[in-house]
Amino acid sequence: MNILVTGGTGFIGSHTCVELLNAGHDVMVLDNLCNSDAAVIGRIEQICGRKPRFVEGDIRDAALLQDLFAEYPVSAVMHFAGIKAVGESVEKPKKYYQNNVEGTSVLLAAMVQADIRTIVFSSSATVYGEPASVPITEDFPRSATNPYGDTKLKIEDMLAELQRTTPGWRIARLRYFNPVGAHKSGLIGESPAGVPDNLMPFITQAAAGLRDELRVFGSDYETPDGTGVRDYIHVVDLANGHIAALNYLRRNPQMLTVNLGTGKGVSVLEMIKTFETVNHCKVPYRITNRRPGDIAKCWADTRLANRLLAWKADRSLADMCRDAWRWQQAQTPPP
Ligand code: NAD
Ligand code: WQD
Repeated sequence: MNILVTGGTGFIGSHTCVELLNAGHDVMVLDNLCNSDAAVIGRIEQICGRKPRFVEGDIRDAALLQDLFAEYPVSAVMHFAGIKAVGESVEKPKKYYQNNVEGTSVLLAAMVQADIRTIVFSSSATVYGEPASVPITEDFPRSATNPYGDTKLKIEDMLAELQRTTPGWRIARLRYFNPVGAHKSGLIGESPAGVPDNLMPFITQAAAGLRDELRVFGSDYETPDGTGVRDYIHVVDLANGHIAALNYLRRNPQMLTVNLGTGKGVSVLEMIKTFETVNHCKVPYRITNRRPGDIAKCWADTRLANRLLAWKADRSLADMCRDAWRWQQAQTPPP
C-alpha cells in the first residue's frame, strides 16, 4: 500500500516508517519538523535500504494536502502529527487545539475530498484520565486532565462521528501507554527538545551526565515501592501494532479502538534499577515531591489488541533500557 505518515520524522512515526517499509509498503512522510529533524529520513533509509518520500509541511495546509493526494496515490493515512507536551498545553491550550484538533479536521476533510477512507490515529492512555482501577480496558470512562488530553478526546470523537455519518471509513484509534526505547540500530530514537518531561529520556540524560540527577516524583503512592507505576512499551512493538491495525482494517471496514501496551506495570524505581543493571551505569536520582496531576498507577488490559490484531508487545524492559541507552550514547558519544 501507499501510506501517508503524518509526523513521520518524529519518535513513534519514524519507527513505524521503518516497519512499514520492511513490510513492503511505500511511504510518504508529511512533517513540519516542529519537533523533529529531516535527517531522520536518511536514517530510515540506512536501516531499511529504502527511503520514504518526504514533504516538509503542515497538516493544517489544506492546499498542500490536496496537491499531495492528487500527486501520490495514498491508500491509507497513519496520523502521528501532533504536539504532546502536557505542561505546555496547560499554558497554551489554544496552540494545542489549533495544531491537534483543527489540524486533524483539515486532514480528514482533505481525505474525504480525495476519497481516502482509512486512518490509523495516535490516541493515548491519557483519555482514561484518572482510572478507577487497573488494568484499564477500552470501555473505561474517558476524561481529560489537561488540554493535551482533551485534544485526544476531541479527535477520537471526531473520528467516531465520521465513521457514524460517512460510509466506508476504516478507522483505528490506538491508545498508546508509555512508549520508550529506540530502534536497535541506534540510528533513530526519541529526541525531546529542552528538558525532558518523560521518565526514560530523563534517565538516559542523567546517566549520560547531561542532567545532574533524576527527580523521582513521589514515593508515597499506593504502589509496591511507593513510586508511580506505568505500562512502558518498546517503540518497535508499538510500531508493529500499527502494521497489525492496518491489516485488521483491510479485513474489517469499521472502527477499531484498542490499547497498545504490555499489560505490565513497572515502577520508577524498578525502571532505574533495570536501566542500571543492563547498561552497567549509574542513574543519579533523588526522591522529591509528587508531580501535580500524576496518577499512582496505569497499565493496560491488552487482551482486545492481542485477540483482534494477533499482536503482542514482546520486547522486555531490559530491551527498552538497552535500546534507549544505545540511542542516547549515539547522541553523546563519550569524550
Ligand atoms: P514527536 O513529537 O516525536 O512526533 C510528532 C511529529 O509530528 C513531530 O515530528 C512533529 O514535527 C510533527 N508535527 C506536529 N505538528 C504537526 C503539524 N501540524 N503538521 C505536521 N507535522 C506536525 O511525538 P511522538 O512521541 O512520536 O508522538 C506521535 C503521536 O503519538 C502524537 O500524536 C502523540 O500525541 C501521540 N502519543 C505519544 C505518546 C508518547 O508518550 N510519546 C503517548 C501517547 C500518544
Ligand atoms: C512516568 C512516571 C512520573 C519524569 C505522560 C503524559 C501522557 C503520555 C505519556 C502522551 C510517572 C515519573 C517522570 C521524571 C519521575 N503522553 N517521573 N521523574 O506521566 O505516565 O504520561 O507521557 O499521550 O499523556 O501525561 O509519563 O514518562 O512523564 O512519567 O519520577 O523526571 O515517571 O511521576 O510516575 P506519564 P512520564
